[in-house]
Amino acid sequence: MKAVAVRPGVPNSVHMVDAPLPKLGDIPNGRGVLVKVLKVGVDATDKEINEAKYGNAPQGFDYLIIGHEVFGVVQEVGANVKHVKPGDYVTCTVRRPGSSIYDVIGTNDMTSEETYYERGINLRHGFMTEYFVDDAEFIVKMPPGLKHLHILAEPMSCAAKAISQAYEAQRRLKVWSPKIAYVLGVGQIGLLSTLVLRLRGIEVYACARSLPGTPNSKIIEGLGAHYVSLKETSLKDLAKKVGKADLIIECTGSSASAFGAMEVLGLNGALVWASVTGGDHKAEVPADKINLEWVLGNKLLLGSVNGNRTHFEMGIKDLCEGELLYPGVIKQILTTPLRGLDSYQEMMKLLVEGKSLKVYIEVAEG
Ligand code: BGC
Ligand code: ZN
Repeated sequence: MKAVAVRPGVPNSVHMVDAPLPKLGDIPNGRGVLVKVLKVGVDATDKEINEAKYGNAPQGFDYLIIGHEVFGVVQEVGANVKHVKPGDYVTCTVRRPGSSIYDVIGTNDMTSEETYYERGINLRHGFMTEYFVDDAEFIVKMPPGLKHLHILAEPMSCAAKAISQAYEAQRRLKVWSPKIAYVLGVGQIGLLSTLVLRLRGIEVYACARSLPGTPNSKIIEGLGAHYVSLKETSLKDLAKKVGKADLIIECTGSSASAFGAMEVLGLNGALVWASVTGGDHKAEVPADKINLEWVLGNKLLLGSVNGNRTHFEMGIKDLCEGELLYPGVIKQILTTPLRGLDSYQEMMKLLVEGKSLKVYIEVAEG
């Protein structure tokens, strides 16, 4: 079958491979689920893998099939699979367990092992194929009523985790109830984080460079949040105007911004870093000032990588609620569909240009 792959370590190596068709029997104990891929989304991670910034092939392969945001339809299930049946729409989690205690209890996103396994990213093939098979544990059912939001389930799981982790950690404060949040960056994670925060009744200021009027700023407004162009208002001015943030979700993909955010977090606040930066940038920060304010203000810095099954389930519920509260808004994220796996060159070109909010491939009808 067709699959889109890279040769890890070789820049710009994206190519088509003829991969073996997966079978139910590839998964032991009757727990296999065979899925026909309908759609696959891509993001900066796929671009950086193709730039050879990170990513490794599975053992025994010299290529890595990419794609970690998937939506598909179940074809066949093993005898011991109960939660999905043929014809169900599903998505699939990204991380696969190692052997640490965190992996064993189902929180493989919190592994304490240096080596991590991620489908389409590190040491496990991804979903940019015609079919895939996986253990029922990692297959998450999607309501048919969310079919039109398809591949957003995976980025949504990252947003859901980032925010639920902040709440978990802030239980240290007994009565923490954030009123003002800043979201830095309005790519898909920023937009979906804004949604999650709005569902919790928080006043959200979503900040990015562009002047208002972009599709992204319209989505922010559609979600009842405030769009702030950093060309018009600096973060420090925003903090003077509306107060420092109780919670910041940083997802710009810029480490300078990640550190800059430390200057506008309020007392007892939490700053979540939710984007990875594959480069080698250096940034100068007012370290003494930040150190002083963070100690005196009991502030928290939290890193958050992808999510486990629970976060996918949370994210899917939030998408449902989001559709009821802000009908038709979330769909606007899905700006740039491409037809068929053969369009992979065009897909990479669009990712490199970086002008499209969300590129995804329609692999098959269904
Ligand atoms: C993916 C996550 C992944 C992270 C780091 C993101 O693009 O959506 O699932 O954990 O990159 O590899
Ligand atoms: Zn991603």
